[in-house]
This record gives sequence, structure tokens and C-alpha cells, in this order.
Amino acid sequence: MGIVPARILPLPIGPKGQIGAATKGGSMQHPVYPNLFKSITIKGIRLKNRITMAPLYLGYAADSGRVSPLLLHHYKLMAQSGAAMIVVENACISIGGSGAQRTLRCDHNRYLGSLEQLADTIKKQKARAALQINHAGRYAHAPSPVAPSAVETFGRIPKALTRREIRTIRKQYANAAKRAKAAGFDLVELHGGTGYLLAQFVSPRTNKRRDVYGGPIENRIRFPLEVLKEVKDTVGNFPVGYRFLADEWLPDGLKLPEASVLARALSKNGIAYISTMGGTYESFFLPDVVEKSKKPGYMVPLAASVKKQANVPIIAAGRLSTPRRAESILKGKQADLIGLARPLWVDPDWVRKARNGQDGRIVKCSPKCNACMELVMRGKPAFCPRWTKEKRVSLKEMFQ
Ligand SMILES: Cc1cc2nc3c(=O)[nH]c(=O)nc-3n(C[C@H](O)[C@H](O)[C@H](O)COP(=O)(O)O)c2cc1C
Ligand code: SF4
Repeated sequence: MGIVPARILPLPIGPKGQIGAATKGGSMQHPVYPNLFKSITIKGIRLKNRITMAPLYLGYAADSGRVSPLLLHHYKLMAQSGAAMIVVENACISIGGSGAQRTLRCDHNRYLGSLEQLADTIKKQKARAALQINHAGRYAHAPSPVAPSAVETFGRIPKALTRREIRTIRKQYANAAKRAKAAGFDLVELHGGTGYLLAQFVSPRTNKRRDVYGGPIENRIRFPLEVLKEVKDTVGNFPVGYRFLADEWLPDGLKLPEASVLARALSKNGIAYISTMGGTYESFFLPDVVEKSKKPGYMVPLAASVKKQANVPIIAAGRLSTPRRAESILKGKQADLIGLARPLWVDPDWVRKARNGQDGRIVKCSPKCNACMELVMRGKPAFCPRWTKEKRVSLKEMFQ
């Protein structure tokens, strides 16, 4: 007999209408996806299941860097989905480190009200709210970008940071994390992915320094570890996660063996979780990376490798369009949590459909499409061609 498709399995219904069978402890176990719908506690924060929204910048914030009605509507939808934790897209820790024109800002107390609205919107839907904080370094949407070293970046040469400027930026991370906590977020995430500033220090191709921040990997991880320490010293027991660049996918770039040194150090230094990813803006559009990135679960091997190095919960993302694949990643102990960015955005009912045995109805992100990334890179807000026309029109109308 072949495998019965999950979508037609009869699902037991509990006394309060919950789906699943009661475990010995009294909680309900999902009959098809017991791992996906199992809770986990990270540094005292309970997540109701293993599904998180991975950060996804869509260009929805207001020009001022504050929330807009469209951005709040978007995060309400994401939080209503039933995912346990929503990691809000990168918010800049200083205007010189902003990634794009419509990047959220958390570089001044005047943005606290805006951030409070955002955290509140997510938490009202019974999801945990995390804020990703970032300095874009050499990729900054700024007139004079800074970086560990003056290495050319898409035709521009960033200014190499002085030791004093490095200290200032460290402080800016800590202040931004403090604002995330004050605004009511449950966690903060340091953006060490996509080739932004933290990753630029770790990479051998963008860090050519000759001081204590450059040279061997032990020196190149110094800056992210100092940032982590400064943040933790500032926010106390507030949980701090890390978006982790495991491989730049560039011939002369950072690779797993060196990235693993950072993973081990983060784990020893109290990081709450590591959310793995691969690639940077310099590799995302290379033909072999484009091909690789079309495959379901294309970043899972990175997560599985990092999991062997770090004794903290690991998030895996990357085209995890089916609950069945997500469950098998958790069951196979390749990761502890699932990160859905585009799959949850395309279909905010992903979680509900998985829980209710309606996998076949999930609307999937198309591997042939890259429209959202291309739109935001052109400075435009992203709308998905897989949505119904009505949804696209109504959201476009909300964009100001
Ligand atoms: C348009 C777009 C914006 C993104 N913005 C962010 C971001 O702000 N921070 C981040 O860490 N990753 C960002 N990512 C990467 C995603 O979090 C995720 O790792 C990637 O899209 C693969 O996962 P998925 O297939 O679930 O979308 C972005 C990806 C896309 C396509
Ligand atoms: S279908 Fe295209 S626009 Fe929609 S999420 Fe996927 S890549 Fe982005």
C-alpha cells in the first residue's frame, strides 16, 4: 500500500475542538505532524509550535521608517496565521546602516511608539514577536557606506571603520535592542545574514583588516561577539537570537567550517537561537545559486550542519512549502524550528491548512518566480502574483 496523503487522513478532534490526540501530559499531539505542532520554550519564552515567520522585507514601512497601515495589516495577517513566532524584517540601528528607503527604524526613541504598535499588533494575535535589528554596512542605502574594509561593493568603495566607529556601532546595536524590549517585543534578532555588517566582519572576502578584528577567523568573529555581549549587558535576560550566514556561496567567501566557529561561540555566549541562511546580494543572482535556490529545502543542509556545532535551537528556512517536508526536517533533527518567509506570505493559511489536514490546498511560492526580491531591490513594495487579484488590488490601495 502506498503512503496515505496527509490531506485525507481523518484527524481526531479533542473535547474543545482541537485537532489531535491527548498526550500523557494532557497536551494535544497532532496525529500527522506531531513535531511541527509541538511547543518549545526558548530562554523562558514558550512557542506554541515550531513554525516561525522568517524575516521578510517587503518595502511596506512608511518613508519615515515608521509603521504604515499596510505594514501593520501585513503583520496582523502573519501573526493570525497560527505561526508561533513572527520575526519582523530588518530594522536599522542607525540611518547610515539602513538597508533600503523603506526600512523600519529603531535608531532613536522617537520610533518607540511605532515599534510598540507593531509588537502589540503581533502579540494580540497570540504570536510571539521578535524584531530583527541590522546595520547594512557596505550594502547600506546611504551616501557613504561603511564596512570592515574598503572592499568595492557594486561600484562603490565603502569607508573602512575606525576602532572608535566600531565602538559606536556596538552601542547602537545595544540601544536598538533596548528599544525592541521597551516596545514590547518578546525577543530581538541580530541580523548576521545576507552579507550585512556582522557578516562582513566574519567574511574573509570583505574583512581585510590587520587589527584585532581581521585575519584569522577567531579575530573576524570578534565584532559579532562584542555586539552580542554589549546587547546582553544592556537588555539583561531578554532573549537574543541570531540570523546566521552559514555560507556566502561565493568562491572566495565565508564557508561552513569557518562559520561553524562563530556558531559554537554564539552558542557558548548565550544566544537564544540560530536562524541559518546562505548567500548574499553578491551571490543571490549567480546562475548556480539561482538554480540551487529553486529547490525545496535548499538551506536545510546548512541548518543541519550548524545544529551539530551549536547547542541551541536552530531554525531552518528556504522553500519549505509543504508541512510534510517541514515535519521530516524536525523529525530528522536537522533543525528545531521551521522558518517560513515567502511560503507564509503567499498563503497566510499555511499553518491552519497543515493543522487541519488540508495540505493540498496550500498556495505555494513558485520556484520560477523571484518577483518579491526583484521588486524590493528596485525600491518598490512587493505584491505576490500568486494572490487573488482582489487581494493584490486591496493591498496596493493601502500602500501610500
Ligand atoms: C523579498 C525578501 C526580503 C527578505 N528580507 C529579509 C530580511 O529582512 N531579513 C532576513 O534575515 N532575511 C530576509 N530575507 C530572507 C528570508 O528570510 C528567507 O531566508 C528566504 O526568503 C528563504 O526562505 P523562504 O523560502 O521561506 O522565503 C528576505 C527574502 C526575500 C525574498
Ligand atoms: S511567488 Fe514570487 S512574489 Fe510570491 S512569494 Fe514566491 S517569489 Fe515572492
